[in-house]
Amino acid sequence: MCGIVGYCGPKKASEVLLEGLKRLEYRGYDSAGICVSHKGSFETVKRKGKIKDLREIVPSNMVGNTGIGHTRWATHGEVTDENAHPHYDDSEKIVLVHNGIIENYQVIKKRLIAEGHTFLSDTDSEVISHLVATLYKGNLEVALRETVFLLKGTYGLAVMHKDNPDKIVGVRNGSPLVLGIGENEMFLASDVTAILAHTKQVIYLEDKEIVVITADSYKTFDFHEQELQKKIENIGWDLDQIEKDGYEFFMEKEINEQPESILRAIIGRTDVDGATGHLGGLNMTPAELLNIKRIQIVAAGTSYYAGMVGAYLLESIARIPASTELSSEVRYKNPVVQPDTLYFVVSQSGETADTLYAMRELQRKGGRVLGICNVVGSTIPRESDGGVYIHSGPEIAVASTKAFTSQITVFYILTLILARMRHLSYEAGLRLVSGLESVPEKIKEILADSGELKKIAVKYSKYENFLFLGRGLNYSVALEGALKLKEISYIHAEGYSSAEIKHGPIALINENTPSLFLVPDDDLRDKVINNIKEVKARKGKVIAVAVKGDDEIESIVDDVIWIPKAHSLMYPYLMVVPLQLFAFYMALELDRDVDQPRNLAKSVTVE
Ligand code: F6R
Repeated sequence: MCGIVGYCGPKKASEVLLEGLKRLEYRGYDSAGICVSHKGSFETVKRKGKIKDLREIVPSNMVGNTGIGHTRWATHGEVTDENAHPHYDDSEKIVLVHNGIIENYQVIKKRLIAEGHTFLSDTDSEVISHLVATLYKGNLEVALRETVFLLKGTYGLAVMHKDNPDKIVGVRNGSPLVLGIGENEMFLASDVTAILAHTKQVIYLEDKEIVVITADSYKTFDFHEQELQKKIENIGWDLDQIEKDGYEFFMEKEINEQPESILRAIIGRTDVDGATGHLGGLNMTPAELLNIKRIQIVAAGTSYYAGMVGAYLLESIARIPASTELSSEVRYKNPVVQPDTLYFVVSQSGETADTLYAMRELQRKGGRVLGICNVVGSTIPRESDGGVYIHSGPEIAVASTKAFTSQITVFYILTLILARMRHLSYEAGLRLVSGLESVPEKIKEILADSGELKKIAVKYSKYENFLFLGRGLNYSVALEGALKLKEISYIHAEGYSSAEIKHGPIALINENTPSLFLVPDDDLRDKVINNIKEVKARKGKVIAVAVKGDDEIESIVDDVIWIPKAHSLMYPYLMVVPLQLFAFYMALELDRDVDQPRNLAKSVTVE
C-alpha cells in the first residue's frame, strides 16, 4: 500500500527520503516520488516503477533539507508518472502526498474545475492540494484543518507550502502516520520501518490529529485546534531485523526465522506447573473467561486462516463454540453482537482497513474485541479492548509466513487456558504444553532438510493449476498453502477440504492438475487416504505432505514431502512450513518477484 516519508533536518532530504521509501518498498507499490524544498522553491521528481528507477532521475544536485516522499499503490487512476505523488495545486505553492481514499473527490473535483482549477492527474489525492489552496490564508495547518472537514474518506497526508518551506504538516484519519523525533531532525512516516535507521523515538498519531514539524520542533493538535501532549514511545525493533541478514529474500529469511519467532510467542506464556497458559494482555479475570459462551474471530487473508486454526482448536479442545469470519464481510452485514461472545481480530500489520473497520463496528455494538497483532503501536492494538502481541519481529515480505505460525501459537495458548478452565485434564494439558514447546525444534528439522522439497517444487513448476487438500485442523492450512502459491508464483491454486472435492472440484482432476494432500497421522488420516485414492483413480498426480514412518503413503502417491512426527494437534505448524517453502521454491524457479509479488500490498489500508 502507499507509503509516506517526510523529513526536516540538517541532512540532504532527497537521500533520507529515497532511503525511507526503499524501506517501505515491502508494502507493495507501483510508482514513487519525492519533493524537496530549497531556498523557497520546490523540486519534484516522480515516476512509475521502482525506487531504483526514481533514484536514476533524482539529480545529484537536488539539495534541500526538507521534503516529502511517497510510494503509490494505485487505486484511482492508472499507474503513470502523472498519477504518482507528490501533487501540487495550480499555483504550485502547495505540495502533498496522500495515503488513503477520498470517497467524495469527484464532487469536489467537479466544483473546483468549474471554479477554474486545472488537474494534472486522475487521482483522488490531487483534489486535496487544490482545496487547501482555496482555503489558505497564511497558515497551512489552519487551511489543512478546514480542508479535512470537507473530505469524506481516509487519509494520511504530508503537506508543504512555499511560504514556510522548512515546515511539514501531517494529518491522519484512517491511514497511519507516525512522527519520528531525532536530534535536530524530525520525520513523518506511514510506517516506522521508514525511519528506524534514524530514530527510535516516535509518537503515533491517532485519527483526527494534526502534526506540524520543523527540524527542531513538533506540535500535535486535534481537529478543534487543541494542542495535545502525546506520549513519546520507543520502537522495540532494531535495524538488523528489517534487513536481509545474509538471505537473498525476506521471505526466505522469515520462513527460516520461524523456530525463533514461534518460541518468542510461547516464552513466558506456558505454565508447566498448572499445565495451562498465561496471556496477560487479555485483561480478563478468570471469572470473565469462564463466562465466555462463544468466540468469534475476525480477520483477512493469512490471518483469517490462522483464525480458522484458532476456531477449530477452541471449539474442539476448549469446547467453546467458535467461528471465523472475513473482516471485509463483518462490517456491512449488521452483525449480531452478544455480551457473552468474545471477539478476536487478528492482524499482522494491525492496520488492515477491513479488519480495523470490522473491529470498530463490533465495538460500537458493545462487543469486547481483543487484538492478536504483530506491529507494536499499530492502530488495532491501540484501539482494541486488550489483546496479545505475537512478537514475530518485522515481517517484510509481502507474503505472510512467520506471522501465521505465531498467530496460531497465541490461539494454542488461548485454547490451553480456556480448555483447562473447562474440561481438559491436567495430563492432557501437560501433553499440549510439551507438544507446543517441541514445535520449534521440529520446524528446524524441516528447514534443515528442505533439499528434496526443493526438487519436488522444481519438478512441479510447469503445472498451471493445483489443488491443496486437507481436513480438520489442517483444512485451513491447505487454504493457506494455496494462497501462498498463488500470491508469489501466480500459479492458480485452490484449497479445499479433501472430503469436499467429491462435491464438485474433482471435476478438475486430470493429469495436468496436481493435488497436494496434507496427511497427518491423526484420526482423519485414513479418510484422507481414501480421498487420495479417488484422485489417483482419475489420473491425478498427487504430492503428499506426510509423517515420517507412514510406510503406506509412498506407494500411493507420486511424491512425498516428509515431516517429523508430533503431537496430533501440532501438525498445522509442520504442514504449513513445507507449503511456504514449496511456494517459495516454485516462485524462484519461475523467476518471480518473491518479496514484492505483482499487485499485492503488505498492509492493506484501504477497504
Ligand atoms: C498473505 C497476506 C495477506 C494478509 C492480509 C491481512 O500472505 O499477507 O493475505 O494476511 O492482507 O493482513 P494483516 O494480517 O496485516 O491484517
